[in-house]
Amino acid sequence: MKIPPVKGMRDFYPPEMSVRNYIMGHWKAVSQRNGFLEYDGPILEYLQLYTLKSGQEIVEQLFSLTDRGGRELAIRPEMTPTLARMVCQRINSLPRPIKWFSVPRLCRAERPQKGRLREFFQWNIDIIGVEDVVADAEIIFCTLDFLQAVGLTAKDIVVRISSRKLLSEALIEIGVPAERLDPVFAILDKRSRLPQEAFEQILSDQIPDQSIRSQVQTLMAISTLDEVALLARSEGACKAIAELRRLFEILHRMGVGQFCRFDIGIVRGLAYYTGIVFEVFDADDQLRAIAGGGRYDNLLAMFDGPNLPATGMGMGDCVLEILLRDKGLIDLQRIQQGLEYYVAYTEPGLMDHAIGLAAWLRRAGRSAGFCYRPVALGKQLKQASDQGCRYCIIIDRQVEAGQVILKDMSTGDQRSVTLDELLRQPG
Ligand code: HAM
Repeated sequence: MKIPPVKGMRDFYPPEMSVRNYIMGHWKAVSQRNGFLEYDGPILEYLQLYTLKSGQEIVEQLFSLTDRGGRELAIRPEMTPTLARMVCQRINSLPRPIKWFSVPRLCRAERPQKGRLREFFQWNIDIIGVEDVVADAEIIFCTLDFLQAVGLTAKDIVVRISSRKLLSEALIEIGVPAERLDPVFAILDKRSRLPQEAFEQILSDQIPDQSIRSQVQTLMAISTLDEVALLARSEGACKAIAELRRLFEILHRMGVGQFCRFDIGIVRGLAYYTGIVFEVFDADDQLRAIAGGGRYDNLLAMFDGPNLPATGMGMGDCVLEILLRDKGLIDLQRIQQGLEYYVAYTEPGLMDHAIGLAAWLRRAGRSAGFCYRPVALGKQLKQASDQGCRYCIIIDRQVEAGQVILKDMSTGDQRSVTLDELLRQPG
């Protein structure tokens, strides 16, 4: 009986693993150069960690279980609640600001579709303890630093930015009751993914008044910050607008302004966001969000922690990989980790010399392989090429004693070298 992988989950054969390692390598390197420290948590958490404040949508997507002790657990669907829990646990001993990153494997039981699976990897960067919008700018800058590092430009991607503070103030001014804000946010977050009629329908469940509803629709059709500024009356709304303007100013100063745009339609699906929110999309708007994040100033207090401001971002590997492939930015040849040396020989009697030389190279810290069967040189060269080896060393009795042939597999050039010269080759 053939057993396939579980729906929405992936096998990583060596080529797919190379791509995953390539993405993760850049996630880690960019985090480090932006000053983030790595952390991790467990794959299982108490179910309650998510039912408390992640929002209905993600709770419906949990893979949950009851363990033998009767404890209700869930596989982590996101990292932010784990981060909040870990920070609260050591709050008095952690130097601030806390600037951490992680690359967890997450599971969400959503309907698998292009760019959305049931198991994925998600890069998280978060800054805890900084109230100023400069921290939000740092998060967006670091996100863009990575996207540029893998070759994407402002022609390929756009960061759409808004503010939940601004949206709540504007909705309250229109007449949406404060206690309805959370469910209304959840509906507005789905607006671009729903047909207009279905959207109208679920919005009317929360806002029965037609005139309030049409004002909400007018608000959501606004496209610039200046237009919102004309409507804003409350002090809170004006403050939120000033904060957004400052954010755009810093992003310009950081040299990434050309990627960033105000978009009142960015609300975010998770319930804990309190201020600046953003999502990254492909510029052609063909794919689901590449990344999303924002400010969540109340989450730590919800876990009985202190009232510490926080902001961060999560980016999955799935949409990103689709986009990188579409743009021709994944060069498998270059990123696959092939051997440096393949040790071949011209006649079967030299096989033991090849074994000895490959082992000698490995002991000297270089990567090396050889053919396990004494086959013709042509077959060995083909195997070296299939394995993506950079150089082939050929042991040949015709060559002067103490020397071997070194063949560059990409150019085909070959020359005689001594063993010492082999080790002097750049690794
Ligand atoms: P999120 O918007 O739920 O936010 O997810 C962030 C990103 O994770 C998405 O934009 C997408 O790239 C990826 N993602 C989400 N679900 C899936 C899926 N089923 N398959 C593949 N990729 C997926 C959060 O998770 C927040 N905790 C991020 C955050 C960190 N906010 C502050 N700090």
